[in-house]
Amino acid sequence: MKDKCNINDKNKNCCTPSTSEPSSNLQAHWDKTYLSKPQEKLGWYEVDLSATLNLLAKASLKKDAHIFIVGAGSTTLVDELLALGYTNLTATDISQVALELLAKRVDNEGVSYIVDDLTNPTVLEDIEPVDFWLDRAVLHFFTEKKAQDTYFDLLKRKVKGGGFVLLAEFSLTGRTKCSGLPVRRYSIEMYEKHLGDQYQLITSFDYGYVKPSTGEVRPYVYGVFGKRVEGEMG
Ligand SMILES: C[S@@+](CC[C@H](N)C(=O)[O-])C[C@H]1O[C@@H](n2cnc3c(N)ncnc32)[C@H](O)[C@@H]1O
Repeated sequence: MKDKCNINDKNKNCCTPSTSEPSSNLQAHWDKTYLSKPQEKLGWYEVDLSATLNLLAKASLKKDAHIFIVGAGSTTLVDELLALGYTNLTATDISQVALELLAKRVDNEGVSYIVDDLTNPTVLEDIEPVDFWLDRAVLHFFTEKKAQDTYFDLLKRKVKGGGFVLLAEFSLTGRTKCSGLPVRRYSIEMYEKHLGDQYQLITSFDYGYVKPSTGEVRPYVYGVFGKRVEGEMG
């Protein structure tokens, strides 16, 4: 069993390679995926991150706001956010390999790393509530109700009142598989149903992601939601 990275541990050594066996088949799948090809060839690699960055801008966050990137993989969104001056980022993922790649590339103290499973969280249970929960192409892998319930339960407890959630998953016209795994496709109404009354839709759009290495278009639905502060009327 690998040690999991702790949110308060700024020491990137928590993400150095381990010689022990991966803790789950899922972790092994994603580790292998990130080892199998350069990130530019991955089916979710983005050159143009403006869809996410434009939604993030809607939140008018302070530069030290805690931006919590779930299933971050080795995303270059982290590099972009650092370049924009954000200083308090967390990247969490089930794949230690992905976070190692990310940590080596960005090498910046403004980023913390947590290896954990969003559908069976342990270290994630200990984090303080965050300002912005950012999920691109992660939730749609959770095809079982129990996994979806665990994910949304964690999200609801870990986003501050007055905080934000960005969900960007395959839309109802999107693919039924990604990275060899089945996916559950989403609409804005499905996001709203899962999030419940405490979360208010700020804006949403359909988005055709173009895979740079092949030109294939993959339809996503993006939505950003604000969490009401305690006691605020709906
Ligand atoms: C399609 S990739 C998207 C990566 C990144 N969000 C991006 O947009 O580039 C899905 C990511 O979710 C991670 N992931 C899958 N299942 C997970 C789980 N149960 N808990 C945490 N991360 C998970 C994978 O390791 C992978 O990095």
